[in-house]
Amino acid sequence: MSDNKSIRSQEEKDLIINARKPEGELGDQLLDRMNESHESLARWGVSHLDIAKDDVILDIGCGGGVNVERFLKMTDNKVYGLDYSEVAVEKSTRLNQAAIDEGRCEIIQGSVSELPFEDNTFDIITGFETVYFWPDFINDSKEVRRVLKDDGIMFICNEAIPNEGDGRQKELIDLLEMKIYSEDQFDEYLREAGFSDIICFSKDGSDSVDRELVTGWICVIARK
Ligand SMILES: C[S@@+](CC[C@H](N)C(=O)[O-])C[C@H]1O[C@@H](n2cnc3c(N)ncnc32)[C@H](O)[C@@H]1O
Repeated sequence: MSDNKSIRSQEEKDLIINARKPEGELGDQLLDRMNESHESLARWGVSHLDIAKDDVILDIGCGGGVNVERFLKMTDNKVYGLDYSEVAVEKSTRLNQAAIDEGRCEIIQGSVSELPFEDNTFDIITGFETVYFWPDFINDSKEVRRVLKDDGIMFICNEAIPNEGDGRQKELIDLLEMKIYSEDQFDEYLREAGFSDIICFSKDGSDSVDRELVTGWICVIARK
């Protein structure tokens, strides 16, 4: 257990709580911060993905929209961002306005639990730093699987792995009502959701900028 010095101030908590669903001015501020602080994690994660020029991609929990922007440079096809936060949708829209105007990008407000897409729509569906907050990971992953094309890929990227002795992590879990999954849990739950060929990559979090919850990086690739 870490000592009391590491427990966050109320001001810090008021900001961090927006990670679950960014709202208002503080949500806007946190999205800016996450766009920067998650960059090295996202680059590491995406380095494990093979993206073809004709892939249609959806980023769930797109937050400030930097991964939508990244994918627009990696495929010539369409990239979608989805988030249930109005502020996140506004921010992602502003960042990707040029691609939206060209008809190459759509940012949609919605929940992972009820994706507003037809079956078999996407080649790749990603979630960066978001699955902690999904209400029912197995059922929500089934919903992701539904809108993936046959052989499509679900990709998850997190900068937290469970660490029971870590007081700061426990405080964060309680504050955000989040769930942090291990490699074994991802493997078990994604299998239960119907995925196969599940591969996990992990590394220590030493390259992280923001050490709020960094106990190690993990990314998971699962095939429909
Ligand atoms: C910690 S932020 C990460 C944002 C961005 N992906 C990044 O890496 O910077 C989590 C995001 O997931 C979104 N989110 C959480 N639960 C969601 C759900 N059930 N459906 C849609 N979006 C969700 C939140 O609104 C928030 O924008």
